[in-house]
Order: sequence, then C-alpha cells, then structure tokens
Amino acid sequence: MSALVVVGSQWGDEGKGKITDYLAQESDVVVRSQGGNNAGHTITFGGEKFALRSIPSGIFNPKIKNVMANGMVINPKQMLEELHGLEERGIKDYQLFVSNRAHIVLPYHELLDGAYEQFKGDKKIGTTKRGIGPAYADKANRIGIRIADLIDPEAFKNALKATLTIKNMELKMLGMDPLDFDTIYKEYVEYGKKIKPFVCDTSLLLEEEIEKGSKILFEGAQGVMLCLDHGTYPYVTSSSPTGASVPLNSGIAPRYINNVLGICKAYTTRVGEGPFPTEIDGELATYIRERGHEYGTVTKRPRRVGWLDCVALNYARRVSGINYLSLMLFDVLSGLKEIKICYEYKLDGKTIKTMPATLEELQRVEPQYITMPGWDEDITKVTSFDELPVNAQNYIRKIEELTKSEVVIFSVGPDRLQTIRLKDFFK
Ligand code: IMP
Repeated sequence: MSALVVVGSQWGDEGKGKITDYLAQESDVVVRSQGGNNAGHTITFGGEKFALRSIPSGIFNPKIKNVMANGMVINPKQMLEELHGLEERGIKDYQLFVSNRAHIVLPYHELLDGAYEQFKGDKKIGTTKRGIGPAYADKANRIGIRIADLIDPEAFKNALKATLTIKNMELKMLGMDPLDFDTIYKEYVEYGKKIKPFVCDTSLLLEEEIEKGSKILFEGAQGVMLCLDHGTYPYVTSSSPTGASVPLNSGIAPRYINNVLGICKAYTTRVGEGPFPTEIDGELATYIRERGHEYGTVTKRPRRVGWLDCVALNYARRVSGINYLSLMLFDVLSGLKEIKICYEYKLDGKTIKTMPATLEELQRVEPQYITMPGWDEDITKVTSFDELPVNAQNYIRKIEELTKSEVVIFSVGPDRLQTIRLKDFFK
C-alpha cells in the first residue's frame, strides 16, 4: 500500500483539486478527510471545467473509490446537488463512499455562521458562510448530528429534536426566527434516503484497501495556514488541513502517512480577512490576479495577492510534514521583470524565521525579500524542466533551497496536460 497526502501549504486555493485529479489517475482510492463544501476544487480536462466542493476529486474515474471520511462535515442537500450536477454533465459511473461517522451541516449552521460574522463586525473571519464553523462547534459540543443518524429516520428524529431545541434558543438569542422541526425533518429525511446507498464505515473500507496494497490519495482541503491549530488563528477554518490530521479524520493508523505533497502557488493568495505579510497591491497585484484568475471558486470574491512567502511555507512544511512540493500557476509569473521571494521576517529589528503566534506580531513583521530576475517567455507549453527559461529554473531551485523540499511537480496551466512531473514519488 502506498499513501500520499496532498495538502494546501498556503491559505487554500493552491490548486489541490488539479493535482489530486492528476494523481487520481494512478490511485485506487481518493479520500477527503476534513472540511466540507467550503472547499472549491477546480478541475479542467478535455476542455471542460468542473468545480467540486465536497465530493472527492477522483469522482471522474469510474475505477477509483472516492471516500468522504469521518472528519468531514457534509451538507446533505449541497452534496446531492453536486452529485446531480455531475450526473447531468455525464459523470454517472462513479464509486462514492460516505462515512457513517461524518457530521452533517444543517440550515441552522449556515444561519449561525452568517450571524456570528455579522456580530463580529470588523473582526469578522470572512468565512464562506457554509456553516462549517458552527457544525464543527456542535461536533465538539457533542450536539452534532451524524450521517448514521440522518439515514435512520427514528434516530434522526430524536437527534434533531434534541439539537434543534438548543439551536432555536441560540437563533432567538441572536435575534433570528426559530426553525420549524417538521420542515427540516421532512426535507432531510429524504436526503438521508438518497445518501444511504453510499454510506458505510469508511475506516473499515480503508483498512481493506491498505491490506490489498492499494494506492491511496488523501485530498486535503483549505491550506495549512487555515488550520485550526497551526494557522493564523482566529482567521482560520474549523478543521485541520495538515498531514497530521489525516489518520484521525479518516480512521487509519498514523504509520501509513509517510509522504506529504505540499501544493503551493508560485506566489501567494488569500481570501477573507487576516494578516498576509507579503501582500502586494496596485498594478502588480492586478496583473497576477487577472492572469491567475484569482477569484473564489465558491464565493467569487477577488483573492488578495502577494509574493511567495517561504517563512510561511517552511512553517507549513514543519507542522504538516511536507517532503515534496508541487509548484502551481507558474505560468502566471511570466512577463514580470523581477520576482520577489520572502526568505525571513524582521520583527522589532530582530530576524525571525518562523511564523509568530499572535496576529499582532504577524501584522507587524517586515518580510525580507530576495529579488530574482523574471522571464518573458510564455511557458504554458513547456513539457520539461529543461525547456523552462533559465530564470524560471533558478526560481524553482531557490524555492527548494529555502524550503528544504524537493519540487516534484510544476504546473503551467489549468489542463491536466499542463502538469510537469519531475519525479515519480507516488509509488
Ligand atoms: P470557513 O471555513 O467557511 O469557516 O472560513 C474560514 C476561513 O477559511 C475564511 O477565511 C475562508 O475564506 C477560508 N476558507 C475556507 N475554505 C477555503 C478554501 O477551500 N479555500 C480558501 N479559503 C478557504
């Protein structure tokens, strides 16, 4: 058996969907183990573009088993809409397995997500308003409802009754109307019936696959900087997108996780609020944003843009066990005279080489840059490292030096074919 974890090594939107789809071609199983429909994974092949949100990226290949594991929070309505959308576009032959232990997102979670954001005012997180934080909070509070409950009408009735009483008090306290039990129950019990055929103990399924010697790809969502534990708290999501969270969130032993591929853009982007040391603005930011189509897949918000931050990348490498890197959207940088890479920060005159824990400090750090000469050539048709302009080759080598990680893939466009692999690391 061979397991590879794909993690976003920045603030999400690094192109994990594309790489997972690419590596899925040679995998037997693709697993999503955390997050929910806050993710937006764009996959382009055969001239078609798909935006996945909670469904794993191996769904396009009928031979691959796709697992939505216990660590996810699944919105049943959205998940079924997503499946329906795929089926309408001809993706009908797929294998999907949903964990009976995954938690579900219900309408009150979305309402509460919106309300908390509103009440936080200028301290708002800038969430996707998909109810992800409130659903994970209920899980931790032990009032969450799981897929196993949803597919059993009696269990669902009891769980929803108990939880809705509390949630309605919360909604009222925040000045919102309470939700009607019957309406939610009737609607969601039907979703439960539709989801039931996909439901199983996915930890057991993964154990069987491990015993068979299958190749398993764990598809991370969001990015390490958005990790609840290691990210730029509180401007983070409510789960852990690190390699370390994979065993817990999928029910496999940690000893199976020995390769972690960090996906990083050739620059940095971030959506939502929170500190972003290498952020740039003006014409340069617009140039990168437009060339990289840097607008949210889910929310369409323009993304904030900045230079590659190797302090953040090194931090992600450490807390997430990254040993390989995949450099994405490399073609976007063509045409820039100079390209900067942040290699350390200065804080109050002192040099620091890791991410400070507080937002206040992170807001005050001064990124220190190496300036490298850019290149003018269009690199979208390049098929090997040697075909890259020398300055682009040097950029890759500098990243490897600064992050102590090997760049094993670089990507020069959205299509599967525009993915250049430098090493066979998923054996
Ligand atoms: P939430 O996950 O919706 O609670 O949002 C919390 C933070 O994570 C916000 O800054 C979101 O913009 C960010 N976020 C959540 N999911 C993604 C993602 O898939 N890509 C990029 N940012 C994300």
